[in-house]
Amino acid sequence: MRLKDKVAIITGGAHGMGEAEARLFAKEGAAVVIADVLEKEGEAVAADICVNQGRATFVKADVTSESAWEQLIATTIATYGRLDILVNNAGISGSSVGDQLALAGWEKLIAVNATSVFMGTTQAAAEMAKTGGGSIVNISSIMGFIGAADSHPGYSASKGAVRIFTKTAAVRFGPTGVRVNSVHPGYLPPMINRPNPPERAAKAAATPLRRLGEVMDVAYGVLYLASDEASFVTGTELVIDGGYIAQ
Ligand SMILES: NC(=O)c1ccc[n+]([C@@H]2O[C@H](COP(=O)([O-])OP(=O)(O)OC[C@H]3O[C@@H](n4cnc5c(N)ncnc54)[C@H](O)[C@@H]3O)[C@@H](O)[C@H]2O)c1
Repeated sequence: MRLKDKVAIITGGAHGMGEAEARLFAKEGAAVVIADVLEKEGEAVAADICVNQGRATFVKADVTSESAWEQLIATTIATYGRLDILVNNAGISGSSVGDQLALAGWEKLIAVNATSVFMGTTQAAAEMAKTGGGSIVNISSIMGFIGAADSHPGYSASKGAVRIFTKTAAVRFGPTGVRVNSVHPGYLPPMINRPNPPERAAKAAATPLRRLGEVMDVAYGVLYLASDEASFVTGTELVIDGGYIAQ
C-alpha cells in the first residue's frame, strides 16, 4: 500500500501506460481519477478497478482545455476531498498528425503533449499547496533528450518542453511542498504497436536490453516518484528505456 490514502489524477488513464498506472495506483491504496477523452474505455477501467475493491472514478476531460482542467480538479476535490498526485500522461504520437513538416501537426502535438502539462501542473500545484504539497509526474519521452530522424519534430519538441518545464515547475513549487519530476519512456507498446512488426523488431534490436519496454516497466517508475519514498526527489528525470539513450 505505497499510496495509502492518496488521491491521484491520471490523464490518459483509459488506455496504455495510463491505464496500467491507474490499476497499479489503485492496488497500492490510492483513489484514482481517470481523465481521458475516451469515455467508454475510461468508464470500463474505473468500473473494473472498483469491482476489484479499488477506488476509481472516470472524468471525461480533454487536457487541451483550461476549463476541463478546472472541472477535473473540482470533481476530484468534490469526490475524494483532496489531491495528492497528478500524472500528466495523456499524449498523442507523431504518427497521429500526419505530415511531419506541416504547421497544423506541430501545433496539435504542442497543445496535447506540452501545453496540457503546463495547465495541469499549475492548477494541480495550487490545489496541492493547500494541503502541504504533493507529487506531479510528467510523462515525457527519450525524444525529449535525443534527435531521431523518424520522430515528428513537433513530438520531440513537445517532449523536450515537458522535460525543461518540469524542472522550472520543481524549482517554483518546491517551497510549497509540491514535487515535480519527469519520466522518459523508450520504445514501448502501445504507441509503438502502430508501426509494423519489422519496425518493432528493429527497435528491440537497437535497445541494449534487446526488448521493447512493457507498460509496467514505466508504471513502477511513476509509482516511485508519486509515492512518499521519493519525498526528497524533485526536478529529476527518470529514463526507462532499456539503455537506449545510454549508447
Ligand atoms: N508508447 C511509447 O512508445 C511511448 C514512449 C515514450 C513516451 N510515451 C508517452 O507516454 C504517454 C502514454 O502513451 P501510451 O503509449 O500509453 O499511448 P496511448 O495512446 O495508449 O494512451 C494515451 C491516452 O491519452 C489519451 N489522450 C489523448 N489525447 C487526449 C486529450 N486531448 N485529452 C485527454 N486524454 C487524451 C488517449 O485517449 C489515450 O487513452 C504519452 O504521453 C506518450 O507520448 C509513449
